[in-house]
Amino acid sequence: MAIISRRYQRIILISIVFSSLVYLSYTFFEPVPLSAEPPFHEQASSTPQEDDDNTYRYSKETPQSDQKELVVASLVGDETDWLDQYFGNWTKNIYIVNNQSAPLTVAVNKGREAMPFLTYIITRYATLPDVSIFIHSKRYQWHNEDPMYDGVPVLQMLRLPQVQKKGYVALRCSWTMGCPAELHPLHPSDGSDDRSQNERAYAKAFRFLLPDEPIPEIVGAHCSSQFAVSRDRIHARPLAHYEKIQRWLLETDLDDQISGRVIEYMWHIIFGMPGVDCQDTGECFCETFGLCNLTCTRGACEKRYQLPQYATIPQGWPEVGPGQDGWPAKGWAD
Ligand SMILES: *[C@@H]1O[C@H](CO)[C@@H](O)[C@H](O)[C@H]1NC(C)=O
Ligand SMILES: *[C@@H]1O[C@H](CO)[C@@H](O)[C@H](O)[C@H]1NC(C)=O
Ligand SMILES: *[C@@H]1O[C@H](CO)[C@@H](O)[C@H](O)[C@H]1NC(C)=O
Repeated sequence: MAIISRRYQRIILISIVFSSLVYLSYTFFEPVPLSAEPPFHEQASSTPQEDDDNTYRYSKETPQSDQKELVVASLVGDETDWLDQYFGNWTKNIYIVNNQSAPLTVAVNKGREAMPFLTYIITRYATLPDVSIFIHSKRYQWHNEDPMYDGVPVLQMLRLPQVQKKGYVALRCSWTMGCPAELHPLHPSDGSDDRSQNERAYAKAFRFLLPDEPIPEIVGAHCSSQFAVSRDRIHARPLAHYEKIQRWLLETDLDDQISGRVIEYMWHIIFGMPGVDCQDTGECFCETFGLCNLTCTRGACEKRYQLPQYATIPQGWPEVGPGQDGWPAKGWAD
C-alpha cells in the first residue's frame, strides 16, 4: 500500500484502444488511471422511465427496511468523519487494514479491499443486515458516481428497496471504467499494464474459485469495488465458499494489485450477476439512485460524471481544485 503516499503525484495515463473502446485501468486506494476517451460514441438521447408526474419513479415506495450497514475499507489516517457526520445513525464497520490494533481489521493486509470485505462477510455471515453497503473510506474519490466525486449523495440516494429487489447493485451507473467489457479472460491481452495482468490471471482464479460455473468470455462490470448486496444474495453461497475465496487471497502469489482486481471483477458474479453486468445507464440511475429524468446514452448520462485526468483528488477538494488542471468546475452539472 505504498501507493497511498502518492498524493499530488501525476499519474501516467495508460490507454489501450481496442475494438473502438477504451479500457481503463485503476486500482483501489489510489487508483492509477486512465484515459479520457469516452467508451462509446452514440449520442442518442433518451429519458428513462418516469412517472406520470415526471418525478422519481420509486418515491412513493416505503423502504421495506432500514436495516443496513456500511462496510468500509480503510487505511490508517484515512478521514472517515464524513460517515459520522452524514450517516450518524447508520451502523458502520470500518476495517483499518494496516492497523492490527484497530477495532476492526484483517488477519493479513492482502488483496486490497477484497480482504476486509470478505472478512466482514465471513464474520457476520449469521448476523448480516438486510443490506450491506461496501465502500472505500474516502469521501471524495475519482470513481464516485457524482459530478464532484462526492460519496455522500451516492449513499444518500441509494435505494435500498432496489438492492433488496435486485440482490446486488454497483454504486455506479456510468459505463466509464469497467463496462461494457473490461476483461476477456479466455483471450487475454499480453500487455504489461495491470489490466492485462488481471486479464491473464482471471481465468485461472475463476476456475479455482467458481469451479462449477463457466468462465465468461467477457467480463464487464462497473468499477471500482463499491457495491451493495442483500443478505439473501450473500447467503446464496455457503459460508465455506467465502472462506475459500479468502484463503485463495491469503495464499496467492499474485501482487495485491492483481489479486484485488481479480476479485473486484468477480464480486458481481459471486453475487449472482452475469459476467457482463452493465445495465443501461439511465435505467440504472433511475432504479438505483432515483434519478429518473436524465438525458442518457446507453453508457452515460449528461451532467453526471466526468472522468478526471488524475486519480488523486486535490487536497482540500471541493474548495480547492475545481476548474483547474483538468478537474471539473464547481456547478458544471447544475
Ligand atoms: C424532466 O426533464 C424535462 C426536460 O429536460 C423537463 O422539462 C422537466 O421539467 C423535468 N422534470 C423534472 C421533474 O425534473
Ligand atoms: C437517521 O437519521 C436520519 C437523518 O438524520 C433520519 O431522517 C432518520 O429518521 C434516522 N433514522 C433512525 C432509525 O433514527
Ligand atoms: C491503531 O488502532 C489503535 C486502536 O484504535 C489506536 O490506538 C492506534 O493509534 C492506531 N494506530 C495507528 C497508527 O493509527
